[in-house]
Amino acid sequence: MTLAPGAFAATSEEIEKRINSLLQKMTLEEKLGQMSQAPFPPNLPDNAKKEIRKGRWGSFFNAGTPAEKTEAQRIARKESRLGIPLVFAQDAIHGYRTVYPIPLGQAASWNPELVRQAARMTAREVASEGIHWTFAPMIDIARDPRWGRIAESLGEDPYLTSILGSAMIKGFQGESLTDAGSIAACAKHYVGYGAAEAGREYNSTWIPENLLREVYLKPFDAARKAGVATVMTAFNSINGIPATGNVFVLRQVLRGEWKFDGMVVSDYTAIPELIPHNYASDMADAAYKALRAGVDMEMVSTAYYDHAKALIESRKLDPKLIDESVRAILRLKFRLGLFDDRPAPRAATPLAPDALEVAKKIATESFVLLKNEGAVLPLAKSARKIAILGPLADSQKDQLGTWAMGADEKAVQTPLAAFRKILGTDRIATAPGLKNSRDISRDGFAAAVEAARSADVVLLFLGEEEILSGEAHSRAFLDLPGAQEQLVEEIAKTGKPIALVLMAGRPLTFHNPATKAKAVLWTWHPGTMGGPAIADIVLGNSVPSGRLPVTFPRTVGQIPIYYSRLNTGRPASENELGIPLGNPLNPQGYTSKYIDVDFTPEYPFGFGLSYTKFEYTNLRLSTAAVRVGGTLKVSADIINAGQYEGNEVVQLYTHQIAASVSRPVRELRAFQRVHLKPGERKTVEFSLPATELAFYNDQMQLATEPGKFHLWVAPDAVGGIKANFEVVR
Ligand code: BGC
Repeated sequence: MTLAPGAFAATSEEIEKRINSLLQKMTLEEKLGQMSQAPFPPNLPDNAKKEIRKGRWGSFFNAGTPAEKTEAQRIARKESRLGIPLVFAQDAIHGYRTVYPIPLGQAASWNPELVRQAARMTAREVASEGIHWTFAPMIDIARDPRWGRIAESLGEDPYLTSILGSAMIKGFQGESLTDAGSIAACAKHYVGYGAAEAGREYNSTWIPENLLREVYLKPFDAARKAGVATVMTAFNSINGIPATGNVFVLRQVLRGEWKFDGMVVSDYTAIPELIPHNYASDMADAAYKALRAGVDMEMVSTAYYDHAKALIESRKLDPKLIDESVRAILRLKFRLGLFDDRPAPRAATPLAPDALEVAKKIATESFVLLKNEGAVLPLAKSARKIAILGPLADSQKDQLGTWAMGADEKAVQTPLAAFRKILGTDRIATAPGLKNSRDISRDGFAAAVEAARSADVVLLFLGEEEILSGEAHSRAFLDLPGAQEQLVEEIAKTGKPIALVLMAGRPLTFHNPATKAKAVLWTWHPGTMGGPAIADIVLGNSVPSGRLPVTFPRTVGQIPIYYSRLNTGRPASENELGIPLGNPLNPQGYTSKYIDVDFTPEYPFGFGLSYTKFEYTNLRLSTAAVRVGGTLKVSADIINAGQYEGNEVVQLYTHQIAASVSRPVRELRAFQRVHLKPGERKTVEFSLPATELAFYNDQMQLATEPGKFHLWVAPDAVGGIKANFEVVR
C-alpha cells in the first residue's frame, strides 16, 4: 500500500531545492497568503482576481466552474509575482458527480479493492474538472451512532478503518500524484473527533493515551504509511487541549514520531474556535497556538494572515515556523505537479459507464441482510405482484446521503425506478405512505395499505432521509423517525409478508418494526446506483455479502457499545437481565449488565446473513507457541452448505487472556473475502506476525507481551471456531 518515493514527479531533492529558492524570494505577506485557504470566490469577481494576483490565497475549495478555475489559476501562475499555483480542493467524500455508498456503507463491503476503485473513479471525475485535492478519507473511529458523522466514517474498528482508509488513499492518489487522474487525499479529522462525548457534534473527547494510540491514531499512522499527502485537524479537544492547537498529536506524534512531511490544514474556522474552546484568549493567541502546533494552512478564517506578522515582530513567534508551513504547502504543490502544466479543466461530462458499474457493485456488496425468516428473500418467482412502499422507495436525493454536493441527482436510479424497469409497471403497486422519513401525518397510510393488499409481498423502504446524518446532525433518538413505525404496523395488519429495506446514515434501533417483517435488508445511503443494486439483491441476481462495520445497539441507552470492549471484573452472560437476586454481600446477578435490556447488541460487528449458509471447520494453527518475533499461521475450512453461490467475509480475532494492561475481549486482526459455489469447500489462510499483537503496555511502550491467547476464525465478532495459542520469548 505504500506509495514509493518515486510516486512524486520530481525527486524530493529537486523539490526541496526549488522550495528553498522560492522561500528566499517570498515576502512574509506572500508566505501568509500561501497559508490561507478560502471557499472559491463565487463568480470570481475583480477583487478576488486582484487578491490572487497579489498572492493573497494559497488555496480555494468547493465550487467554481472549470472556466473560473482556469482563469484563477492563470492569474496565479502568470500574473502573480512568483507564479505560485493555487491548489483547488473539494469535499469529494464518497464520489463526486457519480456517488458511491456513504463511507460507512463502503466499509460494510469489507472489500478494499472495490473501495480503492470507487476512490479512483472519484479522483478521475474530480481531477477532470480541475480539482487537485479532496478532503477525504475521514478515518475517525466512530463508536457512537448518535454522532451524525458516523456516516462518513469507516466504522468502529481501527484495523478495518486502516485497511479501507489506505485503499481510499491509494485510489485518490494513484501511482503518482502527477497523473491526470490523481488527486491528493486528506486524512481527517486528526484526531479523536469520533469520540465526541454523548455523540454530540463537536463535543469534547477524553481519550487515555493508550486508547488514543491503539484506536484513534492507528488509522492515521496507516494513512501516513500509505503516503497520504495531507492531514486535516479536528474540531474537538482531546483531554482538554483542542486538536487544532495540540502540540502532542501534531508535533510530537505526526511530525516527530511518524516523520510526516505532508501538509496539515485546519478544519473550517477551527483556528478561531480555539477561543470559545477557552484555549486561546484572542485571534492572535489562536494563530500563535495553531502555528506552534504545526497547522500549515488555515481554512476560511484569517487569524494567520491578520496576526502572524505582529507575533513575529513581538518575538513571540519564531519565523522558522512560518517557513516550515510554507515549505509543506509548496511541497504539496510540487508533488501534484502544479508548477508544471496539468490538463485544462473541463465541464462535467455524463456519468461514465465504468463509474456507474463500480457504484452498483460496491452498493451491492455494502448491503447487509439482517433477517430473512423463511427465506422470504430473494423474492420467489411466484410473487406476481410486489408492493413497493415507503418514503425512501423513490427519493433520488435521500439515497445519496450526506456530502453529495457535486452529485448529478437526476442520474440517481431509485429502487422504484429499478423495479419498474425490470418487472414492468403492471406487477408493481406503489405508494409512499409518508412524504419523508420525518412525516408524522397518517394521510398517506390508506393508499399504502391498499397497495399492500393488492400485492403478494411488500417491500417497505424506510429509514432516515439524507438530511438526518452528516456534520452537525447528531441525534439523541435512534428509532425510525416520524410515523414510520406506525406505517409498519398498519401494513403488517394486511398479513402480507414484509421485507423492510432500510436506508440510513447510521445504525438505528428498530427492534419492533423488525419483528413485524420477515426480512430486513440494511442498505445505508447507497448512492447513484442504489436502486438497481437493491433490485438485484431482492430478486436474487446477487447474494448479500455485506458485514456490519459497526455494532448496532438494541437501544440508545447501551451507547457507547462496540465489540472490542474489556471484560470487566464481573462479566455478565448473554440473556442475563432483570433485577439481581442477591445483595452486595451475596452478589448473585451483580454483573456488568442492565436490568432492563440484554447487554449484548441487536446485531454485532462483522455480522451479516447470506442467502446461502457457510460452515466453519478444521481450524489449524502452525504452532501452539509462537515467538515474540515469529509469525503464527492460521487456517480454517469454509464450506458453502447452502443453495446459492456467494461471498463470505472470514474474520480473524484474538484475545490476550492476561497482560500488563487488560486487553479487549476480541480484536480484529485480519479478514478475507472468499467466493464459494454451493457445496464448495475452501481453505482460508492467515499469517499473523506476533508483532501485530503488540499494544501500549503499562509503561506506555508498544510491545508484544508473552502470554496466552484465544483466537477465532469467525463470521462476526461473537461467533466462530476457537483455538488457543501462546506467545513466548
Ligand atoms: C468539515 C470538514 C470539511 C470542511 C470543508 C468542515 O465543516 O468538518 O470535514 O472537509 O468543512 O468543507
